Amino acid sequence: MTDQRFAQSLLDWYASHKRQLPWRDIDDPYQIWLSEIILQQTRIEQGRDYWLKFVRRFPDVASLAAASEDEVMQLWQGLGYYSRARHLHEAARQIVSMGEFPKTYESVRSLQGVGDYTAAAICSMAYGMPYAALDGNAFRVLGRVYRMSEAMDTSAGHKAYAKLMDSLLDRSHPADFNQAVMDLGATVCTPRSPHCTQCPLKEMCLAHSESQEEQYPKRNKRTPIKDRYLSYFFIICRGQMMVHRRPAGDIWQGLYEPMLIETPGPDTSQALSHPRINRLLQINGASIRPLAAGLRHILTHRILHADFYLIHLPSDQYKTVSDQATGYIWVPADQLGRYAFPVLISKVLKQHLSTIFTDYPLHGR
Ligand code: ADE
Repeated sequence: MTDQRFAQSLLDWYASHKRQLPWRDIDDPYQIWLSEIILQQTRIEQGRDYWLKFVRRFPDVASLAAASEDEVMQLWQGLGYYSRARHLHEAARQIVSMGEFPKTYESVRSLQGVGDYTAAAICSMAYGMPYAALDGNAFRVLGRVYRMSEAMDTSAGHKAYAKLMDSLLDRSHPADFNQAVMDLGATVCTPRSPHCTQCPLKEMCLAHSESQEEQYPKRNKRTPIKDRYLSYFFIICRGQMMVHRRPAGDIWQGLYEPMLIETPGPDTSQALSHPRINRLLQINGASIRPLAAGLRHILTHRILHADFYLIHLPSDQYKTVSDQATGYIWVPADQLGRYAFPVLISKVLKQHLSTIFTDYPLHGR
């Protein structure tokens, strides 16, 4: 099935409505790849600032590959979905070992963190190759225009969408075609209250003709949202804070955090009687105070509920405390900025810094 009206109306619209974005109209595959990884789960406005920051600090793939993981994570801080940053860094090293940025769809697709969508986006934008990039916007636009009965989150549905998108693709202008679908989905064919009167495809849109825009694209099921209850303890001794790096296999992998006790339900007072905390509080001269309670932080598929406490321990107990907390490192107040923390934690840290380090004047304040 080809539908030339679709591509033609879309490209005409794009010529006068395209968004001005700094990674458009360049053909450096490295910088385009960087934009695609940053934008995978990020709004354009936020992504633009991060992209500029990354391009400034790492103007080419060699400089990114040569950086430390901590520096990459730190620059990424606040963007979320941190596995993207790790994959980005690994892929930079892959590319350096390949000798140049890969030039075929298959070799681009073989990079860490690059799936079908991202490979198609990069190949079409950097090399003008005829690959259709099927992102969330494309599912919405196609789902509505063609009233697709298949669910986009099933493998059969996905295949049907991919086939349709490929048949619609303007093979002479794949970069513009792909980005036009993205822009239409982001600015006109929006998830809620789409602006159909401004849509270049309104005459051919089957969902619009039935006033069923919001019923498409069809989905099979939604992943349920899970609540998690986190109690964080800023443990301070000799003007230093105890932190550790979050392990693999969970949210915030590779970021740092203070001591965490997770409880199964909303009764977070259980965290206070956890043996790890108890042991610390039994140290002579230890003190504890609450800093913040019930902060809500929303991630995809998760709502985090977080309490924060401050535990001060006397200087002469430094060794005892260190012995009780293997896997943790001590970080002086003025060096906390070198570590990447989840935004939820760095916000509380910033807000309460002077309380947390009350006994130890910070350098440079
Ligand atoms: N999202 C991901 N890549 C994009 C691009 N090139 N333009 C607009 N939105 C995007």
